[in-house]
Amino acid sequence: MDNSYPPDSVSGSRVYKPLRLGLLSVLFLNFFLLRKALQGQNSMQTASEIKSLVHNSYSETARSLSTLDRSYLHRVSTAFGYTEDDLKILEGANMGLGCGNPVATANIRAGEVVVDLGCGGGMDVILASGKVGSEGKVYGIDMSEDMLAVAKKNVQSRKLSNVELVHSSIDSLPIPSNSVDCIISNCVLNLVPADEKLATIREAYRILKPGGRFAISDIVEKKPMPEEIKRDVVSYVGCVAGALDAGTYKQYLAEAGFKDIMILDTGADLSVYQPTSEKIEEPKSSRCCGAKPSTAARGGLDESLKNYDINEYVGSCQIYALKLE
Ligand SMILES: C[S@@+](CC[C@H](N)C(=O)[O-])C[C@H]1O[C@@H](n2cnc3c(N)ncnc32)[C@H](O)[C@@H]1O
Repeated sequence: MDNSYPPDSVSGSRVYKPLRLGLLSVLFLNFFLLRKALQGQNSMQTASEIKSLVHNSYSETARSLSTLDRSYLHRVSTAFGYTEDDLKILEGANMGLGCGNPVATANIRAGEVVVDLGCGGGMDVILASGKVGSEGKVYGIDMSEDMLAVAKKNVQSRKLSNVELVHSSIDSLPIPSNSVDCIISNCVLNLVPADEKLATIREAYRILKPGGRFAISDIVEKKPMPEEIKRDVVSYVGCVAGALDAGTYKQYLAEAGFKDIMILDTGADLSVYQPTSEKIEEPKSSRCCGAKPSTAARGGLDESLKNYDINEYVGSCQIYALKLE
């Protein structure tokens, strides 16, 4: 591994089936109403609508983890740089939701304090925990309690005493200023609503110690996306439509105070996200309700946009920046 820098309970079986179907129908209805509301608009809706869509979709993904096709998850994470050894360590925590492997290149050292923005089920938290060791600390932050429940299970089953999971939106972090050595994140900044992206980067800068580093993986726009992708909610939740272009990303990092900013395209093939019937299995909860598709998030474009070559418009990037001493 290259270490250089840079270079819950309600879904239990006791809940009556009609009640479960009722809850699912409400979820599906919300999703399609929001989707319909967004179609025909020139831009996505308000920050809170986008955020709740992202929240609900990733929460459903967390709740349906056990029904996902493991070979698909393995294929996605391998495509983004996780080794077979990583994936052995991550058994049960790999949700196939990343677009890079930030821990592989963040040069995390023993004793450091690391924050993972949008930690999901905790895969990078687990890998970072091994790097910082007993003297260090890793904070995993996520706004979805369902995701944090998955992360908690993964952290507890591995008895990781140097990890703390925090329920929070990443544009306002409950972490003291100048207290963190390294910020990692995997495919999350693109999901933050447009008018919260700069605030999120400013928060990252605030919590870093002087000399601290920002070393994240994210999707970055390579050339302007067609409007129908830009406006598609499934593609937004799939980490594509909300991607910043490299110029804007650098500008936001510089405005927040970061120096030595670098954005490197890893060249990973993003078509690995595109589901085919063999690549991904719908959650059983949605299949049992007939033709209704799942609202669970997955990477990539909506099925209806699959004629576009995703790699033409966006790339998987490693983004590095420093808070100078
Ligand atoms: C694409 S998934 C990536 C999860 C994880 N980093 C991984 O690689 O497996 C995005 C995660 O970010 C979280 N998220 C998205 N926007 C967020 C926000 N504004 N604040 C906190 N968490 C957020 C979602 O709940 C979800 O768990």
